[in-house]
Amino acid sequence: MTRRLSSVPSSTRGVTLAVEAAGPRDAPTVVLLHGFPLSGAMWDPQLASLGRDWRLLAPDARGVGASDLGDGQTTMEMLVEDLFSLLDALAPGPVVGCGLSMGGYVLLRALEREPERFRGVVLCDTRSEADGDAERLSRADAIRRLREQGVPAFTDRFLSSVLAPGTRERDPALVGRLRRMICSNSPAGLRGLLLAMAMRTDTTPSLSRIAVPTLVLAGSEDALTPPEGARALAARIPGSRFEEIPGAGHLSNVEAPGAFDRALSDFLASCDAG
Ligand code: MLT
Repeated sequence: MTRRLSSVPSSTRGVTLAVEAAGPRDAPTVVLLHGFPLSGAMWDPQLASLGRDWRLLAPDARGVGASDLGDGQTTMEMLVEDLFSLLDALAPGPVVGCGLSMGGYVLLRALEREPERFRGVVLCDTRSEADGDAERLSRADAIRRLREQGVPAFTDRFLSSVLAPGTRERDPALVGRLRRMICSNSPAGLRGLLLAMAMRTDTTPSLSRIAVPTLVLAGSEDALTPPEGARALAARIPGSRFEEIPGAGHLSNVEAPGAFDRALSDFLASCDAG
């Protein structure tokens, strides 16, 4: 399997985006959109295991990983335009989009704006509803904590709330890797993404218009976007499949990569056949 790091200029505000790629260039493309406050590196298990049959693209959102921040005033619309710039440059044909949590927010809004870019959709540990007042206030508090206490304190609190208790006990090395990944991001980059998530729109009304094969995945112990919500999300998308990843928390692709990869590769094979 070959892995390459590409840089793609975004159409918005002179930002250059970093993208990790794996797999044969002529294979069908899957774009993997990461969750907050991580980076494209959270997809490393999938780049390693699925990159033989699929061309996988794992971009870093603006302001995290190796992508530029821009002016720091990030909106969900900019994240969607960054995705479109990436697709224009690297994968102009219809792709399978796969987004985890914040990556799912980006994907759902991208589907509203330009559905023809997608031939399949995978929504992991995510939701379609916009933030309510309580979530917006909690994001304002996170922005304050990032400013006053820095990224490491923010990271410890985040990881203690998103991972399943069993993951923390079983896999301290994973906890360390995630911690290093998050701590290498700048506070300004993370604040920009918090702003973007706080002001995102509700994509629930357009779920019934998704007309491509869709898989909804949720960790059985996801406390942030619990499986009941994911099941309700799937019920609104015509013909979609729902699958629970046993024992995983909110970061299902890294907490239970075996079960996650099986579900994803079965789905991709069915998209390919269809
Ligand atoms: C994520 O995992 O992307 C975030 O927890 C999503 C959010 O904060 O709404």
